[in-house]
Amino acid sequence: MNSMNETLAEKQQRQPRFPKHNALAEEYRLFDPLNEATPTGVSVCVIGGGFVGLVTAVGLSQIGHNVTCVEKLLDRVSDLKKGDIPLFEQGVPEMVRANINRNRLQFTADFTERASAYDLIIITVGTPPGDNGEPDLNALREVVTSLAGRVRSDQIIIIKSTVPVGTARWIAEQLKPRNGSRGGPHIISNPEFLREGTALYDFFHPDRIVIGGESPEIIERVVQCYRAGMTKDVPIVATSNETAEMVKYASNVYLATRLSFVNELAAVCDGLALNFDDVAYAMGLDRRIGTDYLDAGPGFGGSCLPKDLEAYRAMARQGDVTLSLSPAVSRVNEQQVERVVEKIRGMVGGALTGARIGALGLSFKAQTDDLRCSPAIAIIRVLLAEGASVTAFDPVAMSNASRHFSDIALCDRAEDVATNADAIVVLTEWPEFQTLDWDAVKERMRQPNIIDARNLLDPDRIRRHGFQYVGMGRR
Ligand code: UGA
Repeated sequence: MNSMNETLAEKQQRQPRFPKHNALAEEYRLFDPLNEATPTGVSVCVIGGGFVGLVTAVGLSQIGHNVTCVEKLLDRVSDLKKGDIPLFEQGVPEMVRANINRNRLQFTADFTERASAYDLIIITVGTPPGDNGEPDLNALREVVTSLAGRVRSDQIIIIKSTVPVGTARWIAEQLKPRNGSRGGPHIISNPEFLREGTALYDFFHPDRIVIGGESPEIIERVVQCYRAGMTKDVPIVATSNETAEMVKYASNVYLATRLSFVNELAAVCDGLALNFDDVAYAMGLDRRIGTDYLDAGPGFGGSCLPKDLEAYRAMARQGDVTLSLSPAVSRVNEQQVERVVEKIRGMVGGALTGARIGALGLSFKAQTDDLRCSPAIAIIRVLLAEGASVTAFDPVAMSNASRHFSDIALCDRAEDVATNADAIVVLTEWPEFQTLDWDAVKERMRQPNIIDARNLLDPDRIRRHGFQYVGMGRR
């Protein structure tokens, strides 16, 4: 079509509706584990073999550093040595194996004897939710205790774990020489901004690198260790440890705030019979607003945003600051579960008792098998509590799900959730759900109802297949 003659509506139609679900996967192919970097001679010890530790370790080894990743779970270490990765993260298994073969990446359970041999020690252990919203720092304390007396004064210790403001200073205090002499290792606060599902992409294409510390020379040495792998000129923010610690919370809390706004806006669009997609699309074109993080959904989940929002509130309490906005962000997010359930009730005729619901997706977002704080799980729990039976499918989270659920039926194929269902609810935005054989799905259902809690499907197409469809803020 000649674009001059195209109407505005046609132009909007032509815009990819779901760019984020596919575009990142495309770009992701750009970095190839087979590309071998020149060895840098820098030795790095990454403490923690979880999601952040593994991605950091493999990313740094890929850019030429010699990396040892320390994980205290012995079973996990023996799996990792064989290149078996305990979580689903695109590209990580291939890159881990390539760097094991190059002798650039090792795994071990005990590093204490060699602690003083590394140029950099990077702490990535988890800081899960603890009491009163504060993060549980036990794993971090354990690491610091094991480092005490074993590290040199000229060593650099990088904290990548998300930790409350003041933690770096506390670590510096713990690692001071025991004989009372001055000095101690350099403590750097270097928060990570890796998203699960696109973590390697994020590692190689960061929007910024934040490095908090006291000495400009040490900060520069850390910058050089990252630069080797950067494909573009990345802004480096050199700052104090405390500011770097706060940047991490501020970023995640802002993202959470934006999502609660977006989800509430979708509800307003629902109430006024407006199309949220069009409103969000037009908003996002404003460069001050931007297009990312504008997808309405069942609420934010995962191991970071909900936890960091709580931790931020706990820090504010400690600083005697009364907050109004972030408690509301949490409340809106909790209400989002009920908003989705309400849509399901509406579709099946009011009461959920005896209703059969097919759930597509369990992970907290696509491209991960992580079920932590997954809105899908929260929604399914409410459905079960109200007397519905639930059949579910997720492309990668099934084995995690079988450990969590005894009261829902897990299917081998997405289409199977349709059998005798009164409604199907899309809970995670896996791209493959877009291309199901919808005629076959409809055939199996008791009632052809779809609640698309991720605005993943094309409503017109789905309706053409004879379904009743509701999305989030979709007219
Ligand atoms: C988040 C941050 O995005 C990372 O920068 C940060 O490094 C990480 O936490 C962390 O602290 O370690 P992640 O938890 O992997 O990353 O997940 P996000 O991609 O941020 O998504 C969080 C939640 O928001 C998911 O439930 C997702 O489905 C939801 N979401 C996201 C939406 O509902 N709509 C959107 O437009 C975007």
